[in-house]
Amino acid sequence: MANENSGLHTAKRNKKDEFYTQISDIENELRHYRKLLQGKVVYCNCDDPYVSAFFEYFTKNFEFFGLKKLITTCYKNQRMDLFSQNDADQAIKLEYEGGAPHSLPTPTDIGVTILEGDGDFRSQECIEILKEADVVVTNPPFSLFTEYVAQLAEYDKKFIIVGHQNAITYKGVFPLIKGNRMWLGYGFKRNMAHFITPHYEDTASDTDHQEGKIRVSGVVWYTNLDHNKRHEEMILVQRYHGNEGEYPTYDNYNAIEVSRTQNIPMDYHGAMGVPITFLTKYNPEQYEIIGATESEGAGFSSGLWHPESGVAQAAVNGKRVYKRIFIRNRNPIAPEA
Ligand SMILES: C[S@@+](CC[C@H](N)C(=O)[O-])C[C@H]1O[C@@H](n2cnc3c(N)ncnc32)[C@H](O)[C@@H]1O
Repeated sequence: MANENSGLHTAKRNKKDEFYTQISDIENELRHYRKLLQGKVVYCNCDDPYVSAFFEYFTKNFEFFGLKKLITTCYKNQRMDLFSQNDADQAIKLEYEGGAPHSLPTPTDIGVTILEGDGDFRSQECIEILKEADVVVTNPPFSLFTEYVAQLAEYDKKFIIVGHQNAITYKGVFPLIKGNRMWLGYGFKRNMAHFITPHYEDTASDTDHQEGKIRVSGVVWYTNLDHNKRHEEMILVQRYHGNEGEYPTYDNYNAIEVSRTQNIPMDYHGAMGVPITFLTKYNPEQYEIIGATESEGAGFSSGLWHPESGVAQAAVNGKRVYKRIFIRNRNPIAPEA
């Protein structure tokens, strides 16, 4: 029974992971990293070249980026009958070093090889390819996101990957964000994306509904490649006038509540709690990330928490607020006299 159940869970999880990134979304993000990809070996390790728009994008733009090599491998279960032209039970690998006779080579033109194992990104076979790669670019399975990121960190790889914004405060992810070893990319329009999938019924409202696609909100790009947006200074317009009104002090943290990123007061010198979406505007020269609430991980608040309160989620006048991260302005202006 236990086995049957775990089989069911795996099936459910696999199904949940089966949605495909649109080439337009890849184009919108990747164009910002052109210089940084020059001469690099790019590895897409969750990508069936017969299905993945990452493969299409990088072969089409191989010369534009001046890539050294493109490698894609895919998990055997990724090969969907609906799209796949090959045997769905086999994991495959494709290597491309440019020079195709036309600008849109297919996997068959380039040639694929069969992997020995199942193509799991954690398999030794795929780790050996990872070691050879300079930059990993893909949309990995959301259900394995923490493990996925841990592996990239372990092998000290550069990456540009799709994930959900909720992962920001995952135990295995937040320390990297706090330590400026991982940050958000340019992102999707309105922080949401449509992914191609035959498995789901899209419940999005009429205007957002797109046939054969599912709308997922809270989707972001994570990277550790530098980009211009990360150095744009956020213009602040509000001032702090004591903790009575707009910026109450938390009941259980030594910090003030700033419920909207755009309202960060320009003259506050101490710790501020902000929503996780603050990261879309985060510039490390302007702000320091101090931590997050203890509800996200023990010790995450870097001592701002009052443990005697017994409440880990940030609260204002007894009312709990949603996930918060704590930041400090590195260059606040002087408070009003
Ligand atoms: C969110 S989908 C994205 C697919 C593709 N990268 C794209 O962006 O269109 C994640 C893919 O990872 C595959 N996958 C799941 N577990 C995996 C594993 N352990 N190793 C490699 N790929 C895996 C899934 O089959 C799924 O196709």
